[in-house]
Amino acid sequence: MARKKISVIGAGNVGATAAFLIAQKQLGDVVMVDIIDGVPQGKALDMAQAGPVEMFDANLSGSVGYEETAGSDVVIITSGSPRKPGMTREDLLNTNAKIVGIVTENIVKHSPDCVIVMLTNPLDIMTYHAWRVSGFPSERVVGQAGVLDSARFRTFISMELNVSVEDITAMVMGGHGDTMVPLPRYTTVGGIPITQLIPSERIDEISDRTRNGGGEIVELLKVSGYYAAGASLAQMAEAIVLDKKRLIPCSAHLTGQYEINDLYIGVPIILAASGVEKIIEIELTAEEKASLHNSAETYRQGIGVIGY
Ligand code: APR
Repeated sequence: MARKKISVIGAGNVGATAAFLIAQKQLGDVVMVDIIDGVPQGKALDMAQAGPVEMFDANLSGSVGYEETAGSDVVIITSGSPRKPGMTREDLLNTNAKIVGIVTENIVKHSPDCVIVMLTNPLDIMTYHAWRVSGFPSERVVGQAGVLDSARFRTFISMELNVSVEDITAMVMGGHGDTMVPLPRYTTVGGIPITQLIPSERIDEISDRTRNGGGEIVELLKVSGYYAAGASLAQMAEAIVLDKKRLIPCSAHLTGQYEINDLYIGVPIILAASGVEKIIEIELTAEEKASLHNSAETYRQGIGVIGY
């Protein structure tokens, strides 16, 4: 079987972290693309030299053009302008829409059969934009948000209960921003809903910390976090190239599910070789549904800003 090919556009903090984890997991060959000549090539060479130490086989290369990405199975988009302290995700909208538009055209030209995984913020809006520019069926364009948001939720629950992260699964729906919807009823430790393990006021505090998870790191680092985001992208790439059929929250195109139409927003999906193999509709309380619709409304306005 030929090796899979995964391209990562944007060899910055998140892109390079994802590329390195993908190579370490031996998911396939990795091509990084960036506009800053020397950076993707240099990082690729550096990562390749970790191969004999970490014992992974992956051809790693870097480029400022797209020829080397040709025939990719998965293309991850991380290119964009980073969020600076005090800047909201929405501030990034117009700048990143331009970048994502150009990048998507190039991806489609060289890898017409790939699955696109979006990371650039504001995430749900950029995923919608890439889908529209690509002309791909919507199952082949998916956004990374819920994997990271639920990983943050899981981390905080682990800290709270002093329990292994391995036993914690969490569900976070909605947009990747302040309006995201952590769902404690669907968040379990060893199969036990956290509503039976943590008092509700503490769950509210942990949910708030999850919603502000990105901002908390920006305040500390002065740039966005990247280890957890990179790991989340690598997990999605793995689900696609290995056709793992993971049931995880991702930003997917809704066509009436949850009474939301023609919008990308975070929902539970099955992620497989074809991309979004299935969107799962779970039961929500009136309050949970209202929160999801409130989140959706924010992103509906966002796609309006960039002309949809
Ligand atoms: N084509 C290719 N690469 C680009 C382009 C472009 N048109 N425009 C910018 N880039 C590259 C930058 O040169 C940089 O190396 O994208 C990379 C972004 O990396 P970082 O600035 O380190 O940002 P990072 O923390 O990795 O975040 C990536 O996620 O949080 C979002 O919106 C944020 O766009 C940012 C993205």
